[in-house]
Amino acid sequence: MTLSPTRRGLLRAAAAGSLAAALPRPVFAESPRVLTPRPAEAQLVGPSYPKTAVWGYDGKVPGPTLRVRRGERLAVRLDNGLPQPTTLHWHGIRLPNAMDGVPGVTQAAVAPGESFDYAFAPPDAGTYWYHSHVNSAEQGARGLAGPLIVEEPDGAWAEANGVDREETWLLGDWRLTDEAQLAEPITTLMDASHGGRIGNTVTLNGFIPEAWPVTAGERVRLRLVNTANARFFALTFEGHDPWVVAVDGQPCPPFQASQGRIVLAPAGRVDLLIDMTAEPGQRFTLSDDAYPRNAYRLLDIAYAEAAGTRPRRPAPSALPANPLPEPDLGAAETLEIALEGGAMGGLAEARLGGKTMGLRALAQQGKVWALNGVVAGDGEHPLLGELALGRSYRLLLENRTAFPHPMHLHGHHFRLIARDGREDDRGIWHDTVIVNPDSRVEVAFVADNPGDWLFHCHVPEHMMAGMTGLFRVG
Ligand code: C2O
Ligand code: CU
Repeated sequence: MTLSPTRRGLLRAAAAGSLAAALPRPVFAESPRVLTPRPAEAQLVGPSYPKTAVWGYDGKVPGPTLRVRRGERLAVRLDNGLPQPTTLHWHGIRLPNAMDGVPGVTQAAVAPGESFDYAFAPPDAGTYWYHSHVNSAEQGARGLAGPLIVEEPDGAWAEANGVDREETWLLGDWRLTDEAQLAEPITTLMDASHGGRIGNTVTLNGFIPEAWPVTAGERVRLRLVNTANARFFALTFEGHDPWVVAVDGQPCPPFQASQGRIVLAPAGRVDLLIDMTAEPGQRFTLSDDAYPRNAYRLLDIAYAEAAGTRPRRPAPSALPANPLPEPDLGAAETLEIALEGGAMGGLAEARLGGKTMGLRALAQQGKVWALNGVVAGDGEHPLLGELALGRSYRLLLENRTAFPHPMHLHGHHFRLIARDGREDDRGIWHDTVIVNPDSRVEVAFVADNPGDWLFHCHVPEHMMAGMTGLFRVG
C-alpha cells in the first residue's frame, strides 16, 4: 500500500509548495522521467504460490506512482521493453491531442526498443492513471497500469478538512491458473461477446492484502482506481460511512454513497474521505458485492490498539474546483449513440469496413459490438461526429445490449445529466460513465479540446471487438 505523508508531512509539503511557487520556474530543460514497460515477475498471490509472469512499468505491478502538481509539467519518456508495440495513454487528463497515446490517431505505436517523449501540464488536480492503448486487452491483462496523481495547488483543503494521510489503491483483476500464471488465451470470443475478461484474483496495489491498518480517530483520503479490464467493484466499508469527494478525478459536492456502496467501473476512480470512528483494536470487513453471487471479503479494516484522539469530524468541504468548462445545456446539440451487439443482444446486422454484415459473419472476424450500427475494424476508429470547437453537446447513450459498458471519452470530462430520464443534480463529472443494460444515460460537455478523440467502451475486449469510435473536435 502506498503510505503517504502524515499530517505533519502534508503541512511541511504544503509549506514547501508555497515556497517553491514563489521562486522563478526553471526553464524545462530537466530530463524526462523514463518509464519502461517490460516483462517481469510479481508475487501476486502470496508466498505459497509461484511468482506470476507479468508485464509492468519499470517491471512493477502496478507501475510507479507519478505525481505532479496541477498545472506543472510532467515529462515522461516511454522506453518500450515489451516484445510488442505500445503507447502511454494518460487516462482522464485533458491534454493536447498529440500526447494522448492513441496509435493510428495521435501517434504511431512505439516499436519494441524504441521510445517516445510525452510532456504536458495536467490542468486538473485529481486521481488519474496511465495505461497502454495498444493491444489493450492483452497489455491490460498482463498488468500494465500505474497511478498518476495530480495534486491540488496547495495543501489548504487537506489542512482545513483535517486529512491525516492519504493512500492510493489500484484495484487489479487477474485470471490466473492454479500455478498463478495468466490463463491463456488472453482473449476469447466468449469473453469479448460477454462481460470481457473477468478474472479470479483481485489485487490491491499488486498483492492480496489481509488487513488495512488504521488508527481510531484519523481521517484518511483514499484514492481508488479500477485498473481491471472488465471487473466492476462495489465496495462496502462495514461500520464506516465514507464521503465521496471526487469522481474520475474531478471534485464533486461531498456526499455519502447510497447504502455506503462505492461503485467503480473499469477505469473509474473515486476519492473517499473516511473517518475512522470505531474503537482501537476493532476489525471490520471491506467487501465487494459487485457480482452479488460472488461477493467476497477484500480485506479487514484493522484498528491499531493505540487510542487515537477521535474528535468529531464535520462534513468535508468540496475540493478546490478544477477549470472545467460548463456546458450550456440550453444551446447544446444532442448526439445519440446506440450501444449494440454482444451475446443476447439481438443485433441482427451492422456495418464493418463499409459492408453490412450479419452477427455471425461479424463474429467470425472477432467483431461483435457496434456504435450507431458501425463496428470498428482492427485499427479503425469510425467517426461518430464532428464537433465545433467551443460548442456544448449532450450525448445520449442508449445501451441496447445485455451488458453494462463503461463508456470513456478522451480529452474531456462530461457532466452526468440524467439516467433513464431522471435528472441527476449532484453535479458529477466523469470521463468514464457506466451505461447499464437497457438504460439511457445523458451527459453534457463542451468540445473545447481540438483534435480526434476516442470514445469507446473501456472493457478492452469490447473495444477491440468493435465498440470504439471517435469525435473530431475542431
Ligand atoms: Cu483509459 Cu481509451 O482509455
Ligand atoms: Cu463494453
